[in-house]
Amino acid sequence: MEKWATSHDRSLAQRHAEGWMFLIEAARDIRTTGAIAPSSRALARALTEPVRARAARPLNILEAGAGTGAVTRTLIPQLPAGSHLDVVEANPHFSARLHDVAATHPDGAVHRQQVRIRTARVEDLDTDRRYDVIVSGLPFANFTPGQVEAVMGRYLELLRPGGTLTYFAYLGTRRARTLLATRARAHRHHAAEEVVADYRRRYATACRTIWGNLPPAKVWQLTRPATTVPGPARSSAGAGR
Ligand SMILES: C[S@@+](CC[C@H](N)C(=O)[O-])C[C@H]1O[C@@H](n2cnc3c(N)ncnc32)[C@H](O)[C@@H]1O
Repeated sequence: MEKWATSHDRSLAQRHAEGWMFLIEAARDIRTTGAIAPSSRALARALTEPVRARAARPLNILEAGAGTGAVTRTLIPQLPAGSHLDVVEANPHFSARLHDVAATHPDGAVHRQQVRIRTARVEDLDTDRRYDVIVSGLPFANFTPGQVEAVMGRYLELLRPGGTLTYFAYLGTRRARTLLATRARAHRHHAAEEVVADYRRRYATACRTIWGNLPPAKVWQLTRPATTVPGPARSSAGAGR
């Protein structure tokens, strides 16, 4: 009982500290951070559903925009033997935290060799690995249309044929933005949304709403077709490892 209380207390204290860290980073740069709190467990579960849906065979998984590791923590125990999890985070304060998450996770001893954390913008990620599943935490709503195109194009390039991308969008933020933004900013936001919508029209295979998150969020799954080469026209180098 004492042991349970100790690990339970530790986990609560950790979540509390991560909540504060998230708030501080959001205050520093809300545009890149994109939220004021980490995702809930319900949202993390929905985002990682394609990993559970695949048979227990080795998978290459990419998590982009991992923040304090709310989704990473859900992914680590689900990794089938022989899988690789690459975590890419642009903010060095968050990526330092992610190294701790991987090292101190209860399943860490089993999975340490399988997890690699990089400090980078995912659109600049230099790898020849190709992924079965990509989980994106990126705040597309804050990006310019050009940034959204660069990230989505790179995701499609990094996915193996038949691979799945999941990402989320908070519910109800569009209306607030329209009311509060300048005309130029509202226009840019609408154009960025259109880029994402266009990818959804071409590749969306599932969507569900997660009410158990603050704010509630919509989770989308996009699947790269098994046979065709996706646009825009950037070359898909090598089959990857
Ligand atoms: C909304 S938070 C999500 C954090 C975490 N996945 C979660 O669900 O709690 C977005 C994260 O994406 C990171 N980010 C923003 N732009 C990025 C980019 N271009 N490449 C990689 N990470 C990025 C931010 O630093 C932040 O940690």
